[in-house]
Amino acid sequence: MSAWRGGSIGGRGLYTADVGIQISPSILSADFAHLADEAAAVPTADWLHVDVMDGHFVPNLTLGLPIVESLLKATSTPLDCHLMIEDPDRWAPAYAEAGAGSVTVHAKAASAPVRTLREIRRQGARAGLALNPAEPVEPYADLVGEMDMLLLMTVEPGFGGQRFLDLVLPKIRRAREILDSREASVWLQVDGGVSDETIERAAEAGADVFVAGSAVYGAQDPASAVESLREQARRASNPTT
Ligand code: DX5
Ligand code: ZN
Repeated sequence: MSAWRGGSIGGRGLYTADVGIQISPSILSADFAHLADEAAAVPTADWLHVDVMDGHFVPNLTLGLPIVESLLKATSTPLDCHLMIEDPDRWAPAYAEAGAGSVTVHAKAASAPVRTLREIRRQGARAGLALNPAEPVEPYADLVGEMDMLLLMTVEPGFGGQRFLDLVLPKIRRAREILDSREASVWLQVDGGVSDETIERAAEAGADVFVAGSAVYGAQDPASAVESLREQARRASNPTT
């Protein structure tokens, strides 16, 4: 997985590969003064989830492109950049150009989501589209071909450590049906409140990429927390194994 950054190998085919369950620890719950060490603490992770918040689209303020550029030099784990910012049309392509493996924008923040998703791909990253808990997935069904990942927020975006919203589970199932019916190799990510108590129901509903902040960085051993979350999700998504 670590060779996936920036489209350096293989082209688009690899980017849409079905790779099963993936875990993306969110550094929002890590120690921001030691991000390189915090990245190194989860060698078992498939991605590192980077929450970019601008204090406008969400009330919280975190980090931006300069820190992402530094982090890219400090880790070989691909970065999964989740932009919770206004005007992602303007800012998102730069994260892809910098070398992020995946760049996700919020549907309601983007004024030209198709153009922005295409630009992210053109810059060599996977393109993600995010929906808040109250936003329906159906209006975006026709955009499936434009994205590599659909992110369904399972909390209101802005802060780590919130409770998983079970009300999103039916939408995860509907999104899975939409993706399967179009035979799209689009990953289905959930973000917010994912833990050993909630990951199984999200996986059973059809999610395959799991962001976990406090459940990983709040654990005694973040690396094994990643592995046990992956194992739980695997079992729940494929109960016969
Ligand atoms: C919330 C962020 C999440 C957050 C998840 O707006 O997008 O990525 O870090 O943290 P937990 O896993 O603690 O809910
Ligand atoms: Zn996030």
